[in-house]
Amino acid sequence: MDYSLLWLERKPAGALPAWAGRVTGEVRSPQGRAALRELREGLKPSRETGPALRLLEEQGKGESFRLFREGEDLILAGPGKGLLYGAFRLLEKLTLGEEILPGESAPAYPIRMLDHWDNADGSIERGYAGKSFFFREGKPICDARTRDYARLMASVGLNGCCLNNVNVSGEALYLLTGKYDRELREIGETLGEYGVSLWICVSFAAPLEQGGLPTADPLDPTVRRWWRETCGRLFKAVPDLAGFLVKADSEGRAGPHTYGRTQAEGANMLAEAVKPHGGSILWRCFVYNCTQDWRDQKTDRARAQYDTFAPLDGQFADNVYLQIKNGPVDFQVREPVSPLLVRLEKTKSIVEFQLAQEYTGQQWHVCYLAPLMKEVLDFTGPAGTVKDRISAVCAVSSTGGDFNWTGHDLAAANLYAFGRLAWDPGLSAEETVREWTRLTYGDDPRVTGTVTDMLLRSREVYERYTVPLGIGWMCVPGTHYGPSPEGYEYDRWGTYHRATCREIGVERGPSGTGFSEQYGPELGRSYGAIETCPEELLLFFHRLPYAYRMKDGRTLLQRIYDDHFAGCAEAEAMAEAWDALEGLVPEDAFLRVRERFREQVRSAREWRDVINSWLYRLTLIPDERGRPIYL
Ligand code: GCU
Repeated sequence: MDYSLLWLERKPAGALPAWAGRVTGEVRSPQGRAALRELREGLKPSRETGPALRLLEEQGKGESFRLFREGEDLILAGPGKGLLYGAFRLLEKLTLGEEILPGESAPAYPIRMLDHWDNADGSIERGYAGKSFFFREGKPICDARTRDYARLMASVGLNGCCLNNVNVSGEALYLLTGKYDRELREIGETLGEYGVSLWICVSFAAPLEQGGLPTADPLDPTVRRWWRETCGRLFKAVPDLAGFLVKADSEGRAGPHTYGRTQAEGANMLAEAVKPHGGSILWRCFVYNCTQDWRDQKTDRARAQYDTFAPLDGQFADNVYLQIKNGPVDFQVREPVSPLLVRLEKTKSIVEFQLAQEYTGQQWHVCYLAPLMKEVLDFTGPAGTVKDRISAVCAVSSTGGDFNWTGHDLAAANLYAFGRLAWDPGLSAEETVREWTRLTYGDDPRVTGTVTDMLLRSREVYERYTVPLGIGWMCVPGTHYGPSPEGYEYDRWGTYHRATCREIGVERGPSGTGFSEQYGPELGRSYGAIETCPEELLLFFHRLPYAYRMKDGRTLLQRIYDDHFAGCAEAEAMAEAWDALEGLVPEDAFLRVRERFREQVRSAREWRDVINSWLYRLTLIPDERGRPIYL
């Protein structure tokens, strides 16, 4: 096989409970049958009589499962999808050697999905793990890998997959219009067997681009009819289709604003077209001015999504979900939580994470994202806590056609953690990493200790040697890999730090752009004042002199120098710690990860020296500890 099965490679071993010797069940649904198959493959039952694991398929569309004992038997009960999730959890617990306790489990959200930014030509936007396994040479493909992808998804409780890039182009434009119905149907069925529903991205301009109409105005009756008819046909041809994900009025793409309409008018028009087929619309909130004049000090990109969408709360149809990136700007390693996530009272929302490590080392650097996800899910704002406010979760996928799916072997931990947290946001980053490490590498404490420790620290390590204190955007424009402290300064993207020889940062408190006020009076006050702003976000919210004293007495500049030296040293230490695992993890995995660590260390040194030298050249203030800075 030219790909691994990640955490599914490892099967239960050692002494299994008596009931594992026989697996029976009356299952009718495709997912129930898949559950039975997975259990039989995983447990290799050998007895015809005696204690058994019995599957009881119940009516209904739910996803929960129950486990209970009846004499010596273990019963797994639930609707088909529930049985499937229960089967994977059981296998996982047996592999981990954990006790199987009676109880019930249900997912926190009805939609838990991966968004693929795959293009029809087989490339992947911001893809760092090879070519697409969904598209080849302009066409969607369905093969054994599609099925194994669905198994991996189901094994961590994920149930949705959006197939193509939000920037819909080329042949992907025709996914909507009939040309690829057969392929879509096949993919939908294959994913559906594992409870994963199919979504596609569509272009808001489709009535113009594919329909030959003179407009895509959402209030135009011919446009509305076109969408209704197109959806009528498509949903019939692809019964497993769950709906559309839409990037509109964003980064050059058409949307309702193009026609002087609101975001609600645009989203609702599509919602009306998919509603008769039980479909939903995931409407992205990534709407901002991407042709900003850098001289303009008033426009603040961080404000844009809240300013656009908060006033529309209550105007969206009930099958619309507003899809909100975790931070107000764009997947930087450190941003505050998007205030829109804790603002909407009458609109469904879906949080969007980015497992594709666009700004977090592109799957060459280790950056375990569960701590970031937890920070977002546990964040409490004026209207409550994110995990209780949202109705669904999604993440930009990190997968591709590479053997190990995610480019960096250790990046698979992010995929695993995302699924587990989407099912149960109450889990901790530690629990998910420990599970993943043991499922992937087994139980040798030297391996589990080293790997869990490095993963748990990795995001902060990456943060320290790259961009300081939430300021973001010091990466190379376009590729977003490697340092370029002024790369985004005089550009149109609204991403500035405006550093001079004295100060750095954009003031987003009440005396500046007022972004902090989007968090309501209490939190807004705390972010808005320098003294109460969390230090890790200091330069996201404030413009400060380099001589500003941090809580521990160091100057802001000294803190930045120190972080860069420390972060880089920690990256070097992580690489050494990995080297010490030689012989303890499978050799091919060992070598793949070692190669990645070499690049991470090279790049971390580059980040350290470029950022430190740049700041020294600007300020002429030396490092207090006299470490090398280059002129
Ligand atoms: C980022 C990314 C783009 C992507 C966009 C989006 O800006 O660099 O490649 O299209 O996010 O989320 O739509």
